[in-house]
Amino acid sequence: MPLDLDHVRSFFPALTSERVFFENAGGSHACRPVVDRAAAYLGGRMEQLGATHRASAEATARVEAGREAARAWVNAREVEEIVLGPSTTMNMFLMSHALRPFFEPGDEIVVTDLDHEANVGAWRRMARELALTVREWKADPAIHALTLEGLEAALTERTVFVAFTHCSNIVGTLHDARAFIERIHDAGALACVDGVAFAPHRRVDVQALDADLYGLSLYKTYGPHQGLLYVKGEVLDRAVSLNHFFLGPEEGSYRFLPGNVNHELVSALPGLHEYVETVGGDLDGFFAGVAAQEEALSTKLLAFLRGKGEVAILGQPTAEGRVPTIAFTSSRQPSTAIVAATDAAGVAIRNGHMYARRAMDAFGIDPAEGVVRVSMVHYNTLEEVDRLIEVLDRVLE
Ligand SMILES: Cc1ncc(COP(=O)(O)O)c(C=O)c1O
Repeated sequence: MPLDLDHVRSFFPALTSERVFFENAGGSHACRPVVDRAAAYLGGRMEQLGATHRASAEATARVEAGREAARAWVNAREVEEIVLGPSTTMNMFLMSHALRPFFEPGDEIVVTDLDHEANVGAWRRMARELALTVREWKADPAIHALTLEGLEAALTERTVFVAFTHCSNIVGTLHDARAFIERIHDAGALACVDGVAFAPHRRVDVQALDADLYGLSLYKTYGPHQGLLYVKGEVLDRAVSLNHFFLGPEEGSYRFLPGNVNHELVSALPGLHEYVETVGGDLDGFFAGVAAQEEALSTKLLAFLRGKGEVAILGQPTAEGRVPTIAFTSSRQPSTAIVAATDAAGVAIRNGHMYARRAMDAFGIDPAEGVVRVSMVHYNTLEEVDRLIEVLDRVLE
């Protein structure tokens, strides 16, 4: 079923007709059921959790419902496999400490030159501290994507851990994460997937993927500013607690989150399911509608960009096999000037390296200017793409 765009947009108080918002890979707007729940928690039910009085029990139940909503969002088996921290960057950092029992000096880990630094820097720092060797899985510069051949070149008999992105936050090309994970497991290593740029556009199923770690940021999937990190139960069982000494294994994922979850934001997470169910049925139905709408948006913008001789599109030049996160450079205009021109016309896009700093070096792009990134989601309209095209047509030769 196609999404009813007027109905969809009515769920986003921040969307207006005056301004076009195409910076969703930076952070999407939050849907109203999420906003309402967070406000209700702060405004009326802000009780400390875990006490025996009734109001505390109610607050605890709301937060627990939020944790369950997070589990269901990624189809994890157990709620305790979900760490709900302040961001994906922080979650990866925490796990780079919790997973230390998995590594011995001389072991090898693999990181990519395409990922956002959140799924690189923490692991590189851990490797330095534990005397591990780091190998780099290089993106294919012809297609700006990770490939099985690239992975093969980075694996050795000593590889114990591989971190890679399901979809780059710049390029937007979808990787076959299932195939990558299978190969990583064959090599006897753990697979840590950054799904931040994937999750706003396609359904995440951590069991189908068989990922060991899978991270996403809920503030890019129409939710609150929280990071959701799935860690497979058997991995968590061997991880070391980061919390107080008296909090034992019965505390589940709380062992990996000193200070515990953010109550008002986690209690808002059932609002994501309410939104999905209202506009798209179940998660599969919703994301089918999302993919169809986003394909139409990408098709239109990419067709325009392909017609501009000075423009180089990163990754897939057509809508297939990608999400509507579209990056390009111009041989005539600095990226900053292009973004300033669209802003003056009321269209919010962005330029820079978007913290995928290593990818700029890999692709020979000046990181100060970086790429121009237009990042759309399902609530954007073809009319909004027309407004962007109108400005770009003036700015680009
Ligand atoms: C692909 C990707 N990974 C990781 C992150 C970091 O997420 P967070 O802001 O939740 O730390 C981002 C943020 O933009 C991202 O786009």
